[in-house]
Amino acid sequence: MTSLKNSAAWRALQDHASNFDRTKLSDIPVVRELICEGLRLDYSRHWLVDQTMPLLLSLAQQQQIEKHRDAMFNGEIINHTEKRAVLHTALRAPESAQVLLNGKDIMPDIHHVNKRMYVFADKIRQEKKIKSVVNIGIGGSDLGPKLVTEALRFYHESSMEFHFVSNIDASHMAETLKKCRPESTLFIVASKTFTTIETLTNAQTARQWLVDALGEEAIKDHFVASSMALEKVQAFGIDADNMFEFWDFVGGRYSVWSSIGLPIILAIGEKNFKSFLAGAHAMDRHFQTQPLAQNMPVLMGLLGIWYRNFFNLPAMAVLPYDQYLDSLVRYLQQLDMESNGKSVDRQGNAVDYDTGAIIFGEPGTNGQHAFYQLIHQGTTTIPCDFIITHKPLHDIGMHHKLLLANAMAQPKALWQGRQHTDPYKTFTGKRPTNTLHVDVLTPYNLGMILALYEHKVFVQSIIWNINAFDQFGVELGKEMANELLV
Ligand code: F6P
Repeated sequence: MTSLKNSAAWRALQDHASNFDRTKLSDIPVVRELICEGLRLDYSRHWLVDQTMPLLLSLAQQQQIEKHRDAMFNGEIINHTEKRAVLHTALRAPESAQVLLNGKDIMPDIHHVNKRMYVFADKIRQEKKIKSVVNIGIGGSDLGPKLVTEALRFYHESSMEFHFVSNIDASHMAETLKKCRPESTLFIVASKTFTTIETLTNAQTARQWLVDALGEEAIKDHFVASSMALEKVQAFGIDADNMFEFWDFVGGRYSVWSSIGLPIILAIGEKNFKSFLAGAHAMDRHFQTQPLAQNMPVLMGLLGIWYRNFFNLPAMAVLPYDQYLDSLVRYLQQLDMESNGKSVDRQGNAVDYDTGAIIFGEPGTNGQHAFYQLIHQGTTTIPCDFIITHKPLHDIGMHHKLLLANAMAQPKALWQGRQHTDPYKTFTGKRPTNTLHVDVLTPYNLGMILALYEHKVFVQSIIWNINAFDQFGVELGKEMANELLV
């Protein structure tokens, strides 16, 4: 047995869970909430009695969450399999901060690249020649910039259209190019390593399309790259001046705050992008400074552990009641499942407990008419995170009132359930949910939400004693695809 399963805190939780009778929980939710600026986490509807949270917090203490958190923020080599520090948090730290990596302050480099991006984006916007921006990337080099560019469409300061091509299926690029004209298109090749076959293939196709129309000369005005691999970028034909750098202390799925965010800057401008970073930084400060019992990412992480490990619940749903957050779940799937889909611990031993949950979801109310049936009456309990934005960005007719009413009704129905003489119309209730209330969807609040989930995933990885920052699991399929090519 691993030391985690054998540990005092884990065993105490196991005892507690085996005697836990959730049918005895009150229909009336016990008000529990935590506020961090414009975010309010309501965690009133959970399988919690007085002893539960203290036991979960002892597990957090036993696993030394604070020590590991500080090691991450301080640039220690916590990604031990790849021998890297994990410093995406530095990308959103203020210019006055000092973050040392191997004795060198990395903040000047970060802000130097940011300034270059702001100048570049201003120039593109002022010249008004570019009408379409096509981001070519996959995984973290696609999902983050796509989510944020789309989620903040209300704040776009330019009429440029943004497209995101990721799939190696030629249809993705072909359908995108149909909407673009060579003379007014800017391609951003987004790839940390500049070796990813999907991205390189798509970039070559785009390059050929441009060269066929405008000649080789046009590449310098129509192609830029976000990457850490300067030589490979140059070999592709993009000048160093047109490359925006980031570093190996930034993991792909944590890179939206880096030059991978270039499409976001082109769309919403410097001020809004800075506000997005500042929101994430505010969540970083919250995570660093609040005691465990009042720490939002810690609480969300522990609640997830409670259900995953002590009740064997395999999945969780994220349900944003905001159409602008249409791509959020796809982003969170990579963040969570690529980080915590692991079965070997940090000492190299196979784990004997469950790790990362299956994450799925859709914006409400669409999900209600698709998979909520299973959440309400299925045999598997699916803990849910509802995300509700309170002030509408488009206040038209009854839309927002109806949206909010639905968003509030669902967690209530899931918890309260319903007794009925007809068994088909009976709802057992006591299905656990978090509700994250957001004042209004702004760059700042979106930054906070994404950082909250990053840290939640990190907290869980520490409890599970796994490395959240490598992803060897995606390699085998890649290797086999390459073998099948020849
Ligand atoms: O899916 C594996 C992965 O390495 C992700 O972690 C990463 O976000 C994606 O591929 C893209 O990698 P790159 O930015 O190097 O092209």
